[in-house]
Amino acid sequence: MKHLISTEQFTNTGQLEQIFKLTDHYQKIGVSETLKNKIIACIFYEPSTRTRLSFETAALRLGAQVISTENAAQFSSAAKGETLEDTIKVISSYADAIVLRHFEKGASKRASLVSSVPIINAGDGAGEHPTQALLDIYTILKELGRLNDLKIALVGDLLNGRTIHSLINLLSLYDSNTLYLISPRELRLSDIYLKYLKSKKIKFIETADLSSALQHIDVLYMTRVQKERIESIKEYEKVKNAYSLNNQDVKKMKQGSIIMHPLPRVNEISPDIDNDKRATYFRQAKNGLYVRMAILDLFLNKEKYDH
Ligand code: CP
Repeated sequence: MKHLISTEQFTNTGQLEQIFKLTDHYQKIGVSETLKNKIIACIFYEPSTRTRLSFETAALRLGAQVISTENAAQFSSAAKGETLEDTIKVISSYADAIVLRHFEKGASKRASLVSSVPIINAGDGAGEHPTQALLDIYTILKELGRLNDLKIALVGDLLNGRTIHSLINLLSLYDSNTLYLISPRELRLSDIYLKYLKSKKIKFIETADLSSALQHIDVLYMTRVQKERIESIKEYEKVKNAYSLNNQDVKKMKQGSIIMHPLPRVNEISPDIDNDKRATYFRQAKNGLYVRMAILDLFLNKEKYDH
């Protein structure tokens, strides 16, 4: 695997176990010189707090140096009309890997076709966010001790949520999970993913009713309604507060369950819940740093890991 574009690239759990093992290693040692003399380019055409800064921190903790633009749409030559392909061709002659976030679905795939160095998809429009899904399943494993035989509620904007799309692919690799797909009608998971789940024989229940599901689930994965992907403000206003988890809701949940969110949150989870032991979202964000250290190491030191 030269590039990381989609979680569809993972076809067996052994590949994920390799990432978990390396993640555990970096969580333990914290810093390393494994990417000394390497340069990582973080090119972001859309806003980010966690993904960009955790990738940059991961690179620095591995001894690499970072070149970066946090607003490539405005401050790179894209603003003058340069194509993504030309930009990537040039940056791949400067850096040893490119971490790319873009507003268009498929942008990372396009970049990978012209890049001489690994492209890591850090979110492509409403497409995918594979490193987020990797840190999500790592978090589930660390918190619950397993990735199979779980009842997992995916809640919110299932239509536009790229973290959801990437996560569904990975969860489908594990046995006996049941997915509760909970969204307003307008933000239902698209047929492509529903067909995919059926083809993989993954049990799923589609509903708009979060409250009735709470008592059954092991993992509650809340997501933000993706305002930037919804056509009109009127449509957004209709769905923006569809789900807003509060203390009363959490009381219905099992003691051993966990509450996740890729963040940023808007109104999906009340801050009153943050001190509940089931609130996992800040630990989840922290895990992202170590997962991204593992990913950078794997993709830049391929010869060390390819058998
Ligand atoms: N979860 C996530 O992708 O967060 P950022 O948009 O802050 O990177």
